[in-house]
Amino acid sequence: MAPSVADHSQNTTETVTSEVLKLQLNNAQNKGPSYPAYLPHFDVNEKFPPTEIFEFTDPALKADPKKPNLLGGADVKVNHLTPYLGTEISGVQISQLSKEGLAELGLYTAERKVLVFRDQDFKDIGPERQIEIAKTFGKIQIHPTSGNVKGYPEFHVVYRDGSDSSFREYNGSNRINNTQWHSDISYEKQTPGTTLFWILDQPETGGSTLFSSQVEAYNRLSPEFQKRLEGLKAVHSAVYQADFARARGGPVRREPVESIHPLVRRHPVTGEKALYVNQGFTRSIVGFKDEESEYLLKFLYDHIAKGADFHIRATYQPGTVVVWDNRLTVHSAVDDFADNVRRHAVRLTPQAEIPIPA
Ligand SMILES: [Fe+2]
Repeated sequence: MAPSVADHSQNTTETVTSEVLKLQLNNAQNKGPSYPAYLPHFDVNEKFPPTEIFEFTDPALKADPKKPNLLGGADVKVNHLTPYLGTEISGVQISQLSKEGLAELGLYTAERKVLVFRDQDFKDIGPERQIEIAKTFGKIQIHPTSGNVKGYPEFHVVYRDGSDSSFREYNGSNRINNTQWHSDISYEKQTPGTTLFWILDQPETGGSTLFSSQVEAYNRLSPEFQKRLEGLKAVHSAVYQADFARARGGPVRREPVESIHPLVRRHPVTGEKALYVNQGFTRSIVGFKDEESEYLLKFLYDHIAKGADFHIRATYQPGTVVVWDNRLTVHSAVDDFADNVRRHAVRLTPQAEIPIPA
């Protein structure tokens, strides 16, 4: 049957739409990055001494559970994304929060695991103030291998614009998908807690972040299985990350470390128990033979990855800041946008306590 007029007009519309998209894409690329001062900086000569243990008290311990300084404003709107984790918030400026408000932010992040703040001026307040705010939640980790901001090694820069394929290479170049569940820098002795991540340039569609609740992942297990896991410890390693950076001629600012952490940890403020393993950095279970370790970790990674009923997808709009608790969640970038589209984001990663066994 010959195509009808309706079919034909649909084809024309599709052609026009794809031409418009191409044009938008070209315009976006030609424009250059919106925040060139935050482009990733790699200096192979940059070296830092080993990370030292420091005294840590979670500021959320002192927070008012009612959170009047965070959520008390007349314009504040709160929208829970799912029952277990994720809350979208508008009508609050993180940059304007008092010390008490920031403590409440830490508490709310622990309770909801991931907070998505819209319309923030945070990206425009300058590196010093951004660092000062993030320091509320602990000493900021200087990443050993990733791009940082020139003069401000505390920033971890996430950047793609088609000229750099390192993200895919890191995940493995022959994979079906690029989902890579992980908790940030879990190889450190003092692992990160309340973590801030904000977008500077994002694709029109896609480029979101998946999060999974490690608390709910733990809660789903049978009491018998939970009992078996409690008391176990796992090795978390920075070695692969450092080897990858060296092989590409990138910086290794500190020699890679390995830490042993409890497989189930307890949050110092909420007391919740959470699985603490992640495919990105956990390598083996202490005291298990290789096959036993691989078997158990594979089960846990599958369980975490498949639990869509305790996942969220955080989306970005200009001005979005996502705050998450790295002690209670794992996350993965979503690599679903075209290679030549720019995505530029920055993370500040305060380190919290040495994990408390459950
Ligand atoms: Fe990450």
